[in-house]
Amino acid sequence: MTQRVAIMPGDGIGPEVTAEALRVLQAMAPQAGMHLETEEVPIGGSAYDLAGSPLPDESLERARAADAVLLGAVGGPKWDTLDFALRPEKGLLRLRSELGLFANLRPAQIFGDLVEASTLKREVVEGCDVMVIRELTGGIYFGQPRSITGGAGQRVGLNTMVYSEPEIERIVRMGFEIAGKRSGRLCSVDKANVLEVSVLWRDVAERVKADYPGIELTHMYVDNAAMQLIRSPKQFDTIVTGNLFGDVLSDAAAMITGSIGMLPSASLGSGHAMYEPVHGSAPDIAGQDKANPLAAILSVGMLFRYTFDRPELDERIQAAVVDVLTQARTVDIMAPGRTAVGCRQMGDRVLEALARQPQAIPVAAPT
Ligand code: IPM
Ligand code: MG
Repeated sequence: MTQRVAIMPGDGIGPEVTAEALRVLQAMAPQAGMHLETEEVPIGGSAYDLAGSPLPDESLERARAADAVLLGAVGGPKWDTLDFALRPEKGLLRLRSELGLFANLRPAQIFGDLVEASTLKREVVEGCDVMVIRELTGGIYFGQPRSITGGAGQRVGLNTMVYSEPEIERIVRMGFEIAGKRSGRLCSVDKANVLEVSVLWRDVAERVKADYPGIELTHMYVDNAAMQLIRSPKQFDTIVTGNLFGDVLSDAAAMITGSIGMLPSASLGSGHAMYEPVHGSAPDIAGQDKANPLAAILSVGMLFRYTFDRPELDERIQAAVVDVLTQARTVDIMAPGRTAVGCRQMGDRVLEALARQPQAIPVAAPT
């Protein structure tokens, strides 16, 4: 059977990190007995430059037709003055929404000896492994009405934070399911001391809990959760939260890993899936071979795990990353005694490490 993966490199460092992730995908798929077909599909500012839209209809159709999407990053100063509807970010948001990718999984774990790359103390982050599950197609990101109205000096900006019970229920269920495969502890994050939408969220989470007797459910306000993630992240196992809170908390959680350049993600729904590094397009270092491709490469691991149900390939990629980090570092995680490498060389190193693994059928040597 042929598996189709749409590759959406996007903008900034997106194309560089995606190229390395694609090499890993292409090296591993045949070993895993998979026949892979990939095609490059435009999104973001580069799609706007090509076709006048950050998500041209054809791109959406090609993403829809694929078994999975592997995305780089979107956005950059070049497109920041465009009308909201034409901005690169809008392309990404529309893609998430059109594909029904309501659950965004962002696993923040500390790989090998990256402990010293974290700005947090060793004892705080060592052994840390937190899964942030962010609702991705609802909440204030998509709520109506939304507008800026009124005359100069008197304008009013408006957004709406809205969740229905079914929307809350499906993401909270995902939280329970995933917590059940991990340590069995689920923390639901909200702002129920202030927001009605959060009161409902908490209520639904408590109701759903009855179906998962083995899981311990706790609740935390988002401001406290932000503090606790930095103060003592090991208290968390699985976090489930809304779209905006998840956006903020997952960046905070990224710092546990040493660098946002290490954090992969999976966006899942029913029938479609997309995999992307959490870091953005980093226009300041784009095109300089400085980007860390490991988040994109780890996203390929998540692709094998969640779309193709091959968790062992994810494990192999993670092991290769741990292996590589003992010797080589991109600038964002550089440490004394390690070799500084660029994006491409980091990709080479991961391919070499995969080929060294005992269970591996040799992958093609990097060219
Ligand atoms: C993320 C990003 C996006 C978001 C932007 C680029 C629209 O910050 O994936 O976390 O806010 O969801
Ligand atoms: Mg974000």
